[in-house]
Amino acid sequence: NLTVELAGLKLQNPVMPASGTFGFGEEYASYVDLNALGALVTKSITLEPRLGNPPPRIVETPAGLLNSIGLQNPGLEAFIREKMPFLRRFRPPIIVNIAGSTVDEYAELARRLGEVPGVAALEVNISCPNVKEGGMAFGSEPEQAAEVIQAVRRVTTLPIIAKLTPNVTDIVAVAQAVERAGADALSLINTLVGMAVDWEKRRPVLGNIVGGLSGPAIKPIALYAVWRVARSVKIPVIGMGGIMTATDALEFLLVGARAVAVGTANLVSPQAMLEIIEGLREYLMQNNIDDINKIIGSLELT
Ligand code: DHB
Repeated sequence: NLTVELAGLKLQNPVMPASGTFGFGEEYASYVDLNALGALVTKSITLEPRLGNPPPRIVETPAGLLNSIGLQNPGLEAFIREKMPFLRRFRPPIIVNIAGSTVDEYAELARRLGEVPGVAALEVNISCPNVKEGGMAFGSEPEQAAEVIQAVRRVTTLPIIAKLTPNVTDIVAVAQAVERAGADALSLINTLVGMAVDWEKRRPVLGNIVGGLSGPAIKPIALYAVWRVARSVKIPVIGMGGIMTATDALEFLLVGARAVAVGTANLVSPQAMLEIIEGLREYLMQNNIDDINKIIGSLELT
């Protein structure tokens, strides 16, 4: 049994895409059966359409990707009109990621999405490293993070998943603040801020100079953050950061993640999530474990 419960949602397995690595599912649907996933998670939606940052926006580094997309998206109304009908064709719950540059923008997004059929939960991105206003600023201070989550809480009954940034002194303090503010679950970690330099041209590689680092490079940092946070809050944690294989996913479940999100691996192979789901199923069978929930948080410390 791979079923997990998360913020009132029943997931047929604990594997979902990390926001932004899967668009709105359209491109992936031709390669993988979206009905096999635990949930569908959208790229961040903002009130108005955004074109994103100047190119180049993605660069490979030795152990991960550095990206600075700049929250490119069609905007709230076009998302509802043009993307939701496609997503609604599939069975897994649809988690819509939202991003704002003010507290009121987050609240307006949440209020409006609460009226849209098929939206199962909101993932509140208070951790994007690539935009000038809002973005990571909200997730960097416990009080500001709580203010955003509280404003969203007031206008919706949908489950709220707060997406946290690792670019802070103490991620546990932010996690506990958003839990008190009414978050139903947490996603962590978002990307770590980094930069790449073209020494021949003597220029930054990315158009935006800095970007978010993802992939295997950040996995140990992510595992440590999930482990610390899962022990410090009551709400469930979705673990992410460099999950490429089923054993990576297993490591996150062991340290206490209730579910996992796969990001960079989707850009390497669209099959990655399906292989991870199959790998978890095989692990349970080979070890005679009847329920994945028995794995969650079962790391032995002595
Ligand atoms: C972007 C947003 C993120 O939350 C992130 O981690 C990386 C990139 C973006 O759209 O630029």
